[in-house]
Amino acid sequence: MKVLFVAAEVQPFAKTGGLADVAGTLPVALARRGLDVRIFMPKYRTVSQTVKEFATVAEGLSAPVGHEQLGGALRSTNLNGVPVYFLEHNGFFDRDGLYGHYDDLWRYTYFCRMALAFYRAIGWRPDVIHCNDWHTGLIPLYLKRDPNLADIASIYTIHNLAYPGSFEGSDLYVTGVEPDEPLYQSLKRSGSVCLSQAGITCADLVTTVSERYAQEIQTPEFGAGFDALLSRRRNDLYGVLNGIDYEQWNPRTDATLAANYSADDLSGKQVCKRALQRDNGLPECDLPVIAVVSRLAAQKGFDLIEAAAEQLFKLKLQFVLLGTGEERYHRLFRRLARRFPDATGISLGYSAAQAHRLYAGADMFLMPSRYEPCGLGQMISMAYGTIPIVRSTGGLADTVRESGPEPNGFVFRPYAPAAMIAAIRRALQAYADKRTWNRLVANAFASDFGWGRSAARYEELYELAMHKRRC
Ligand code: ADP
Ligand code: GLC
Repeated sequence: MKVLFVAAEVQPFAKTGGLADVAGTLPVALARRGLDVRIFMPKYRTVSQTVKEFATVAEGLSAPVGHEQLGGALRSTNLNGVPVYFLEHNGFFDRDGLYGHYDDLWRYTYFCRMALAFYRAIGWRPDVIHCNDWHTGLIPLYLKRDPNLADIASIYTIHNLAYPGSFEGSDLYVTGVEPDEPLYQSLKRSGSVCLSQAGITCADLVTTVSERYAQEIQTPEFGAGFDALLSRRRNDLYGVLNGIDYEQWNPRTDATLAANYSADDLSGKQVCKRALQRDNGLPECDLPVIAVVSRLAAQKGFDLIEAAAEQLFKLKLQFVLLGTGEERYHRLFRRLARRFPDATGISLGYSAAQAHRLYAGADMFLMPSRYEPCGLGQMISMAYGTIPIVRSTGGLADTVRESGPEPNGFVFRPYAPAAMIAAIRRALQAYADKRTWNRLVANAFASDFGWGRSAARYEELYELAMHKRRC
């Protein structure tokens, strides 16, 4: 089975969040199952900084965008056995940052057009194209309207509905879709052009990254205005939980840590904790350390931390945060750092190495998300024996259990500061009792979030999409 995996960010080449983790690891897991998977992504500036040597696959490619025919080239490299093709167009992609540019509609229309054109240059035709989030939303639409592509099936995976990829209606011409053609309806959304809507409407199958989120997005509360459309497509909508790569997230071998450790010998974790406290100028004592590693966005529930700050810092704990994003949260955490200097270690930036040290050195990992399609932080923290405290939503609800025979974390339900504080108090109480805590840590280590089951599920869904396409 030949699968083209198209994503706007893929680690280690370009990353803003979990989409990159998934796009950099799921294709590898699928390849290990014997599928012929290849990745297609833009050649951003960070790609050129990451890859030492590219192979040139094709030059002189071109695709229509608006009224123009734009050229481009294809470079490639290899990611753990998976070929990665980079679309090169320096005007569009050789910039700082990945998205949020004034011409994103042009850039990602071009990207989608090229996804359907480049493979001819390499003499390899996919059976399925796996699309991810709005940047790829035009691909299922183009597949649907071109009879020459009728044999290629598509799957559209929603990683985050709150980023719809909406643009001015007057820029419709960029996509090449005409207002009088039927497929225009799939793109049109109250005066705008909406790329994720096109993906959700036109793909053979739609998936999202946890079962809970697949249910939630069919409701007005979580549907971001797409709930009616998603309910209509419910027979083609599947929740497949993300996995993490245990080679990358492994305290036994992690070279970024002050010391290595495992479930059987936790002494190194204590060394990591002391190093984390030292790096953050915190007293090197036995108070529990609660960590956050996150994009700083409204989704992640930081207004609960803001509202609960006075209560939170009355508790006996240390708080360490690594994150970057919206300015208002930068301001919030700078303020908290000034107000509670002995209890906080705040780093406003992005650092993969530092993230590893937080996951390992902390005792607890806080994710009070307002909504969370899947969430990787809670799974990564468990791989490091660090206990998650999460709000019960989306993938957090599907991966963290406070009750039952094998609890692996703490869960609160109402989106309310008091509920979060109560969950943190329960965690502190458990921490104070060595036996309870050790059992939690053992359960967290034993929780398996590898790609195995989910990669098998995607393979089934690819088959199903191909079958649907044929019928
Ligand atoms: P989202 O995709 O919504 O941002 P996830 O939990 O799915 O949330 O994935 C976040 C990923 O990004 C994790 O791998 C996390 O470690 C990483 N990450 C987030 N913020 C930072 C940061 N400031 N520095 C390093 N890694 C980060
Ligand atoms: C999104 C979601 C996150 C998910 C990630 C990967 O960014 O916010 O919950 O884990 O995509 O699917």
